[in-house]
Amino acid sequence: MPLVFFAKAPSNIALIKYMGKKDAARNLPENASVSMTLDALCSVVELEVVPGQGLASQGSAEWRPEAPARSVGRAIQVPDLGEAGIGKVLRHLERTRAAARELLPRFGIALRDCEAGEKWVLRSGNTFPQASGIASSASSFAALTLAGSAACAADRASFERAWAGEAGLRSALAAVSRVGSGSSCRSLDGPWVRWQGEEVSTIRSSLPPLAHFVLLVSREAKQVSSSQAHALVKGSPLWPGRPLRADARAERIAEAIARGALGEVARLAWQDAWEMHSLFHTAEEPFSYWEPGSLRVLRALAPALREDRPPIVTLDAGPNVHVSVEASRAAEWEPRLSALGFELLRDGQGAGGRLI
Ligand code: DP6
Repeated sequence: MPLVFFAKAPSNIALIKYMGKKDAARNLPENASVSMTLDALCSVVELEVVPGQGLASQGSAEWRPEAPARSVGRAIQVPDLGEAGIGKVLRHLERTRAAARELLPRFGIALRDCEAGEKWVLRSGNTFPQASGIASSASSFAALTLAGSAACAADRASFERAWAGEAGLRSALAAVSRVGSGSSCRSLDGPWVRWQGEEVSTIRSSLPPLAHFVLLVSREAKQVSSSQAHALVKGSPLWPGRPLRADARAERIAEAIARGALGEVARLAWQDAWEMHSLFHTAEEPFSYWEPGSLRVLRALAPALREDRPPIVTLDAGPNVHVSVEASRAAEWEPRLSALGFELLRDGQGAGGRLI
């Protein structure tokens, strides 16, 4: 019987953004960030352990461009990773294996006796198309970290018990995931997550359940990767003071989430999205992710920020606009957003990565 692990991790959307790194090798952020974990917009990883295939020193992992053989209710698309992307994924798997072998025993999880020369075969895909402008690095590195860690455990049930019951295990593996891609550390837990330095933890919330919409303004591949953006923002004259302002906003939004103050959450998220994009627009070599449609949507939604129960509106390093509204009012909001003339992706809040 081949040993196979399936993991699913959702994407997350930051309301206070991670932008600018203190330490690029370890993806340590300049400021605290706060995000909402999504649910069905996710990555799925299949990790198959193939016994005894040559020497341990030979390549011990391989990525196959095939869809994982497990359904999550939405169609799964296999991304075109390219050579550099595959290398990054396989290095992360190796990092995860090394870290998990050290970490799991600390949480009472016995290690599997790995056979010398065993090979890990990886398949992965996303429920959102590669060209949809939804960043896949957060969800895919989180799912990879989870599957790779589970494959180190002697028995799956004890791993799953610890994963569900020990916030410490989730945050320790979040730190491993972070080194693969910073924002992935916020996809292992949910729905509200705060990341500061090496620490990732959930935030208590009194907000009502939210529905999430993505307005697909453009499907074009972006010209500036988010990794490049993290470096370029430091050339903006608006950079000094940004980490302090973002930290203060992260503090305030966490309090507002805990109090259930939706209006305040929406206003802080709006401010932070505009501040991050202003850094892009004023960098020494200015760049922009906005398309004419992004601005049209933002202008159309701006008056709604003054409503009693406003939408939370934000953009990542891309042209698409993310809108979260109270789930109880999703049916009222959906036609309002559709009327703006762009394709809509729909989702809700989730609890983070898990084995499936
Ligand atoms: C704009 O996590 O993609 O989405 O650490 O280099 O992989 P790396 O960067 P990444 O940056 C995401 C930036 C952002 C804001 C956010 O998610 O907080």
